[in-house]
Amino acid sequence: MNKVSLEARNIAMSYGKNVVLKDINLVIGPGEFFALLGPSGSGKSTLLRLIAGFNAAQSGQLLIDGHDVSNVPPWRRNVGMVFQNYALWPHMTVRQNVAFGLEERKLPKAQIDAKVRAALELVGLADYAARRPSQLSGGQQQRVALARTIAIEPQVLLLDEPLSNLDAKLRVQMRTELRSLQRKLGITTIFVTHDQEEAMTTADRIAVMDQGVIQQIGTPMALYDEPVNRFVANFVGSINLVRGRIEPAANGRATFRCPVFGALDVPDGTLRSGDAEIAIRPHAMALSRTREGTRQTWAEGLIAEREFLGEFVRYTVKAGETLFIADQAHYKGCAVYAPGDVVQLGLDPALARVLPAADADAREAHAH
Ligand SMILES: Nc1ncnc2c1ncn2[C@@H]1O[C@H](COP(=O)(O)OP(=O)(O)OP(=O)(O)O)[C@@H](O)[C@H]1O
Ligand SMILES: [Mg+2]
Repeated sequence: MNKVSLEARNIAMSYGKNVVLKDINLVIGPGEFFALLGPSGSGKSTLLRLIAGFNAAQSGQLLIDGHDVSNVPPWRRNVGMVFQNYALWPHMTVRQNVAFGLEERKLPKAQIDAKVRAALELVGLADYAARRPSQLSGGQQQRVALARTIAIEPQVLLLDEPLSNLDAKLRVQMRTELRSLQRKLGITTIFVTHDQEEAMTTADRIAVMDQGVIQQIGTPMALYDEPVNRFVANFVGSINLVRGRIEPAANGRATFRCPVFGALDVPDGTLRSGDAEIAIRPHAMALSRTREGTRQTWAEGLIAEREFLGEFVRYTVKAGETLFIADQAHYKGCAVYAPGDVVQLGLDPALARVLPAADADAREAHAH
């Protein structure tokens, strides 16, 4: 299967007055597993349908393998789409479902048989060819939908929330299978999900979308470690946001002042002064009876809540007027705190990321 690239340039799309995609720019490499991640209504499906050719943009260009396909109808794009509800034909067997697209393309029967067999083998359903969809589990039906799309050998595979109808356990299993299948085929794939964990565990890169705008594109780790704004920081995991003021210093560092921790020496790429916010992950916060770590800046806090999650305990700690989340690794015999306990809350400034507060305020204003 030949690998192709995909590129969106300045794509905009509206339904009437409602702008649902704003200036979308994307470059997806050949064989890449790319995720579109965002909340409900952010424009993920609209963009996917646009790539498939079911939606038309008002402006901008879409290129597949370097060719502008903006005016090419869906059936001539060599793009395969697996829809969220997978829409199998209930009256047809698995084999007939998978063969359907190939028959429409009027391929010789022997070739169809061979391709169907290969596709079913690939998804591990060779022994289920004679069954009907109603005789399959949800995960198996999902794989039939995938086999049906793979059988037509598309250059680009588009998956719209393909795992959303499965139970939690099957979902996790299927996402691993999907990932290894994609690796095996090397097919350029765009995967839509609103589940951050699903996107992070499967994708090479992710575009985080909100309100029709791509907020950030990056590898899962880059998004997690270096979110560009509050929305991305919140969407790809839990985060503590602390408001304060920033004063730029030299060498990409700055002093951040906030009521709870006082002055912190933080890394900052923007080096603007004024109102700002620092973002820090819950597991980067330390909890202790005494101020024992040297990397941390400490503040006194009160345990407000405790949630035990097995691998770690999630504490909500009130320090000053701010509630912090502090995730502490759990093992037998480790220090455990109870609601009402007075604790020392440690923040390692080196692990904090400075976000411009103006951005957060603008977003809030926009949302209301
Ligand atoms: N056919 C349509 N006519 C008018 N508005 C539409 C149409 N389809 C989608 N929209 C609007 O476009 C916006 C984006 O919808 P879209 O389906 O792309 O969101 P999504 O990110 O896929 O959300 P979800 O996670 O819920 O599937 C929404 O505000 C939606 O109401
Ligand atoms: Mg959708």
